[in-house]
Amino acid sequence: METLEGMSRTHHCGKISEKNVGEEVVVCGWVSRRRDHGGLIFVDLRDRSGLVQTVFAEDKMGKTAFPKAESLRSEFVIAVRGKVSLRSEDTINPHMATGKFEIYCEELRVLNKSKTPPFYIQDNINVDETLRLKYRYLDLRRPEMQKNIILRHRVTKIMRDYFDRNDFLEIETPMLTKSTPEGARDFLVPSRLNPGEFYALPQSPQIFKQILMLAGYEKYFQIVRCFRDEDLRADRQPEFTQLDIEMSFVDQEYILNLMEKMIIELFDKSINAKISGPFLRMTWQDAMDRFGSDKPDLRFGMELMDISDYMRGSEFKVFESVLQNGGQVKVIKVDGYANIPRRELDGLVEYVKNYGAKGLAWIQYTEKEIKSPFKKFYSEETFLKIKEAVHAETGDLLLVVADKPLVVAQSLGELRLEMGRRRNLIDPDKLSFLWVIDFPMFEYDEEGKRWKAMHHPFTAPCEEDIQYLKSDPGRVKAKAYDMVLNGTEIGGGSLRIYNSELQEQVFEAIGLTPEQARLKFGFMLDAFKYGTPPHGGLAFGLDRLVMIMAKRDSIRDVIAFPKTQSAACLMSEAPSEVDAKQLRDLAIRTTVAAKKNKE
Ligand code: AMO
Ligand code: AMP
Repeated sequence: METLEGMSRTHHCGKISEKNVGEEVVVCGWVSRRRDHGGLIFVDLRDRSGLVQTVFAEDKMGKTAFPKAESLRSEFVIAVRGKVSLRSEDTINPHMATGKFEIYCEELRVLNKSKTPPFYIQDNINVDETLRLKYRYLDLRRPEMQKNIILRHRVTKIMRDYFDRNDFLEIETPMLTKSTPEGARDFLVPSRLNPGEFYALPQSPQIFKQILMLAGYEKYFQIVRCFRDEDLRADRQPEFTQLDIEMSFVDQEYILNLMEKMIIELFDKSINAKISGPFLRMTWQDAMDRFGSDKPDLRFGMELMDISDYMRGSEFKVFESVLQNGGQVKVIKVDGYANIPRRELDGLVEYVKNYGAKGLAWIQYTEKEIKSPFKKFYSEETFLKIKEAVHAETGDLLLVVADKPLVVAQSLGELRLEMGRRRNLIDPDKLSFLWVIDFPMFEYDEEGKRWKAMHHPFTAPCEEDIQYLKSDPGRVKAKAYDMVLNGTEIGGGSLRIYNSELQEQVFEAIGLTPEQARLKFGFMLDAFKYGTPPHGGLAFGLDRLVMIMAKRDSIRDVIAFPKTQSAACLMSEAPSEVDAKQLRDLAIRTTVAAKKNKE
């Protein structure tokens, strides 16, 4: 193997341009593609900046040096000294930024060899993601992955600059800490020095950032790792990154404006996307009623519409019993799709059942007739009235769900998204931002049979609703807000409670006894008695934000070393078993290890 001794890199591959023609340069990188034409070998050389074509000619390099060029294989690491020249007209590669140039090699050094990679190091490869994750270091060499990781760097740089310019301080908060209530399970870390005791990794820095406000720091931000042991999806990782923010002496208006400006600047500077403010604001209730979601994708219409009033008082038991029990009948309209194949309709019935609906009905306004499974229960006139009410035309399809409002919202909301995708109604280039505001303070947890905080229990309830904290928690609204982009919740936050009595009342409303509250948050309740300023903030999901900017469908594509659906790192093979000694030191005995020993 050779070294770089005495040969220093002068240029990056992707940066070779017109003005280098005729110059002698030294480039370094990985062999991307190699074409052997006998006495002439072409190698596309790759570094972080891109590709450039290098040429190895036997007559130029000499008989003794040339075999070294012949020995090159994919992903070998080389340094090339040579002259930049213009390619002939017919050999120009228009798909390559440096496609007009090539470097004729005068000196080649092979700095390292490589095993044959398990997949091609190029964009748009069709390989199983598990293979990509096992060989993540090779996957990360691919230009599209490098672009994502570089974009992520740009994004955090712009964020830091923005907050610095606006007088915020970046302050670190502990990773070994106590549980924070963001609604997921904690990752626990055993304490060797305090046997039997555990730290929790932070689900967010929520409590610490609030304590920083009462400690007088006024404006805080942090780009911070958060840990949540929850079921994973394309937009959820067990560890992920937040842009976390908190401010004192501000109202909701101030926070929303400052954040909008940040987002507008961010999209402009990082991906050159011009967004105009102010962002649309929609109440949570409106979002649920019109889109069946608290994170509506506004890139297309197809709003949910209520037809309960037309359906009432019929012999059709399905609708009648729903309506009698405080439920509703709602529809979405799929334009020009009255002739949907029966098989697709059957599939849609199964689709909504995944989201809790008990069934799906429809009205097809075809040229010939009106078709509907409940046609015999209503008059022709009723169907025409509905047609008019929902602004349907002949040729349109209505999909109908009857159920409790939350079930209708969820199933029809998901069906709306699915039909939007199937009918190609979603413009992938559009950026649709909005704020969802006026969230309910609590939601009922059917499983646990209790109320829980919809955002988190430090969120301030609206003053006029405080009186209902005990008697009717369901009607209490919160000073909470989410920023939504293209149907993804990219950030959320709230104004906070800054009075310890009110805080105690809210803990009580979610079923914490004063003792439990003290045990979990005693230090916070105590701290709050020493002059807490009004404060509020929010946190953005950095991974989700960069995912959308990079036009990817999974946050795994914008995280250098992500985990799989089962929370494993396929490259390092974490999590893994540990020595018995390590466990003994931590005073831990696992039932799994015991089971294995028995076997
Ligand atoms: P919240 O729980 O809404 O608020 O989180 C803020 C944002 O973080 C992102 N996010 C995630 N991203 C990837 N994987 C996950 N598992 C994951 N969970 C959340 C989302 C979300 O909008 N402390 C509060 C903020 C506050 O009130 O200031 C909090 O953590 O984009
Ligand atoms: P069933 O009585 O369950 O056979 O339902 C009769 C028809 O009513 C079905 O074919 C569906 O079209 C419709 N249906 C059943 N449940 C619902 C529901 N929850 N919402 C809308 N339509 C329903």
